[in-house]
Amino acid sequence: MINTNALARLTADFFMSALMILLMAYQVAGETAHEVLGTAVGVLFLVHAWLNRRWFSSFYKGKFSALRALQNTFIILVLLDTIVIMVTGVMISGTVFAFLDIGFGTAAARTLHLCSSYWGLVLMSCHVGLHWSMVMAMTRGVFGLKPKTGAAVWLLRLAALAFAVWGAWAFGHLQVWDFMTLKMQFAFFDDSPDWLVLFNWASVMALFVFVSYWFGRLAHVLANRAKVSS
Ligand code: HEM
Ligand code: HEM
Repeated sequence: MINTNALARLTADFFMSALMILLMAYQVAGETAHEVLGTAVGVLFLVHAWLNRRWFSSFYKGKFSALRALQNTFIILVLLDTIVIMVTGVMISGTVFAFLDIGFGTAAARTLHLCSSYWGLVLMSCHVGLHWSMVMAMTRGVFGLKPKTGAAVWLLRLAALAFAVWGAWAFGHLQVWDFMTLKMQFAFFDDSPDWLVLFNWASVMALFVFVSYWFGRLAHVLANRAKVSS
């Protein structure tokens, strides 16, 4: 029987990731679609938090491993950042929330919206990477797939590495760090075709998923080794 809870989680994960890419590529969607999709992703965040409500209720329960501490830190950062993106988004909205007619702090809100959304993409990608084993386990469970072995594993790892290397280039090209550190405060226009703009953003996401996944695994191995030798 299909695990509907896992399927619901995977579906939400997929759409949140796809929408994050589309929202970062503002020039592709345009203003009205951006606001509608931004509101939709806000609703998905709430659904996602509700599907993971056990995390909130068992926050202090069980053992705190190095990996769990890392995962929890990123969830809290993602949660705080999401609140900033949403509140500032509503403040600067020219269509969906225009009826609120918020006339104060919009210049600061615009700067904060830009900066927190770039942080959001990086933090959310790290959050996904730190839960990547969970994603793979759920995908295998839902679709009845067997774990890959031998050459297929290395081929997939190589493809992920290539995507991440492209992401490192795109990180520079899209001036992500400059936006995160407020060195850039005005919209960046990429004159590449739409599909390439989307691909570039997806690759930045892949870079942080890749790095945080392997960092999480390393932290897990090192913590276990320290436990054995003590
Ligand atoms: C683009 C946005 C996001 C993506 C792609 C994403 C993805 C994921 C994935 C893949 C997992 C593990 C599998 C699952 O439960 O689905 C997860 C777990 C979780 N996420 Fe997110 N997430 C995002 C945003 C958020 C936000 C904004 C919050 C804020 C509350 C959040 C809170 C959590 C929690 C509490 C867990 C459970 C962790 C655990 O049980 O160890 N996520 N997320
Ligand atoms: C996770 C959700 C969101 C992300 C990642 C995000 C991301 C971004 C980014 C990267 C820009 C800069 C675009 C550019 O000019 O290059 C932007 C601009 C903008 N966003 Fe969002 N956004 C989100 C949610 C929202 C929401 C919910 C609203 C309002 C309903 C909103 C309203 C706007 C508006 C009005 C602008 C144009 C600002 C200007 O005039 O320069 N955003 N957003």
